[in-house]
Amino acid sequence: MALTKRVAVVTGSNKGIGFAIVRGLCKQFDGDVYLTARNESRGMKAVEDLKKEGLNPLFHQLDISDPTSIQNLKTFLHKQYGGLDVLINNAAIADMTEVLSFYGITQKGDISYAKQAENTMKVNVWDTLAVCDALFPLLRPHARVVNISSEASTMIYPKCSKAIKGRIRDPDITMDQFKKLFREFEAAVTSDTVEEKGWAKVAYGVSKIAVRVMSYIQGKDLTKDTKRPDIVVNSCCPGDVDTDMTDHRGIKTIDEGAETPLYLALLPPNVMGPRGEFVKDKQIEQWPV
Ligand SMILES: NC(=O)c1ccc[n+]([C@@H]2O[C@H](COP(=O)([O-])OP(=O)(O)OC[C@H]3O[C@@H](n4cnc5c(N)ncnc54)[C@H](OP(=O)(O)O)[C@@H]3O)[C@@H](O)[C@H]2O)c1
Repeated sequence: MALTKRVAVVTGSNKGIGFAIVRGLCKQFDGDVYLTARNESRGMKAVEDLKKEGLNPLFHQLDISDPTSIQNLKTFLHKQYGGLDVLINNAAIADMTEVLSFYGITQKGDISYAKQAENTMKVNVWDTLAVCDALFPLLRPHARVVNISSEASTMIYPKCSKAIKGRIRDPDITMDQFKKLFREFEAAVTSDTVEEKGWAKVAYGVSKIAVRVMSYIQGKDLTKDTKRPDIVVNSCCPGDVDTDMTDHRGIKTIDEGAETPLYLALLPPNVMGPRGEFVKDKQIEQWPV
């Protein structure tokens, strides 16, 4: 395979919004598109479904919680393509109790708040960051990275203390400070002092605040990489989408949910912006005042 062939990867794309992003990339991206899934048979089934639509996605296994799986993908991409042009970090989890509370429904969870918060932070923040850390060295000039955050970040932010808000929106925040900040949230979860320490007791929302802050830092840091110009990182909200994650209460179809991620993935070379932003309905959204 030509090492210059362009390539796109979408994490957690065997279903839901990720699946629709792959569908859109197959139609619009000039290069190979990898549908990835932690479970190979679910992933292959999704690939077959898209093939029936006349599309031609490729498959690679990727469990973002498994360092070996991440490393295998990295080695594969390096060997087959010599780089990476589009990375969409879509894979995530949400606790159903928290999801239903967004829709005004109260339901007691099966596991403790601490356990579900730990799981949510692990997958949505630290495992996503591990994918970035592994694959970012492969990004070529003009690469586009889209980290799927959520409007939940905007909704939960006002519930945080003034001090936490200040750290979240600090324009000079570094990756080390980012890690410290969200490790503090996890410590507060463990000591059952989440609200006392100035956080909101909604782990999914906090995890998506983290994805948004992480994307800002990554965007800023990659801009300094003069050897690889024009790498753009943004985060976004796909909207309220009818998927398993929302218990099918969302109002948008998965293809509608994929629109903003696709817009960001396909930003033209040397675009002025958005860069390092949080984007919803293709518009930049700032933290609420
Ligand atoms: N739906 C909404 O309204 C909404 C709103 C705002 C933001 N979002 C965000 O949009 C993204 C997609 O959500 P969705 O609604 O499409 O969710 P979904 O239908 O639940 O799909 C989630 C995908 O992530 C995968 N996944 C979970 N953990 C993984 C892991 N460790 N490694 C690899 N893949 C993993 C799942 O794989 P399995 O099939 O193997 O579980 C599945 O393919 C998420 O980041 C979500 O937070 C969604």
